[in-house]
Amino acid sequence: MSVETSTELRQFVAELDRLLADARAAFASAGESSLLESARIEFIGARQGRLKAVQKQLAAIPVSDKPAAGQRLNQVKQEIEAAFENAQVALSGAKKERVRDISFDVSLPGTPVRTGRLHPITRTIDELKDIMGRLGFTAADGPEVEDRWHNFDALNIPEDHPARDPLDNFYLAVAGAVSEAGESLLRSQTSTVQIRVMENRKPPLRIISLGRVYRPDTADATHYPMFHQMEGLLVDHKVTLADLKTVLRLFATSYLGESVPVRIRPSFFPFTEPSVEADYFWNGRWVEFGGAGLVDPNVLAAVGYDPETTSGFAFGLGVERLCMIRHKISDLRALFTNDVRFLRQFPPG
Ligand code: PHE
Repeated sequence: MSVETSTELRQFVAELDRLLADARAAFASAGESSLLESARIEFIGARQGRLKAVQKQLAAIPVSDKPAAGQRLNQVKQEIEAAFENAQVALSGAKKERVRDISFDVSLPGTPVRTGRLHPITRTIDELKDIMGRLGFTAADGPEVEDRWHNFDALNIPEDHPARDPLDNFYLAVAGAVSEAGESLLRSQTSTVQIRVMENRKPPLRIISLGRVYRPDTADATHYPMFHQMEGLLVDHKVTLADLKTVLRLFATSYLGESVPVRIRPSFFPFTEPSVEADYFWNGRWVEFGGAGLVDPNVLAAVGYDPETTSGFAFGLGVERLCMIRHKISDLRALFTNDVRFLRQFPPG
């Protein structure tokens, strides 16, 4: 600045310089956007800003110094605005940095993914389907609410048979059909599916059916009012008990992983003739498999097959028992109380 400049101009410029220094310091120290905004209003606010106040002093500057003063004023104004913008950018950058710090702290342990898992009974069912599938049996399904025909009549169970006792079955009182003890019931066995399949298909047949059955049992370590069965049915020509026994032995050997002897004992079921109970030898003792036998000619006739030319075998096994022996579960109820501490012990599947 030349020597001839007026005192007014010198004061004006000094004030502008102070203002610029103050503004820079204020913007730099504003730690959050609301503080930065108040600082902006304080210094370059359009009405009351400190720059505005200094600008008013322009009027007192001698005419010869006015251009220099105006120039300096504009310069300082631009510099203050630039300082403000820099502070703004720095602030938003810092914020992003902070957010990033929180969400990407690589030293924190990861959040474990909570995967669900299949219920041990579901896993057992899948495995049984797999084994029987390799023996040529395909899975068939039937309803859990059944009628008397499929649960009893077609299975050759006479009217006065104790298996029909209302105390041994869950008969359903269905609106409009209340005259009798109920025409429909929760199926008490999966043998119902044998009938449904044979009614709709011609032999030869190889099916299994896995699902829930219901009986009014009191729950204890080995009983539950609901449990699962695997029904097997093979219909062809000249089927014998030897075929049945072979299939059961192959099945037990596959499921338990080593050669397992199987034995059959005489028994009685209305829908098989002869009827047997099947056991397998495991861990030094005979374990009950379930009921089985050759399909009764009356059943073949009930579904429209010719008992002279067709024959077959059927079996019904308890799924829970197979699951429990595999996993050394001692109380059946543990499978249905849904305690996750119990269920978590099984691999996810
Ligand atoms: N349905 C019989 C039961 O529940 C088992 C069985 C099935 C027996 C097939 C013979 C043939 O006890």
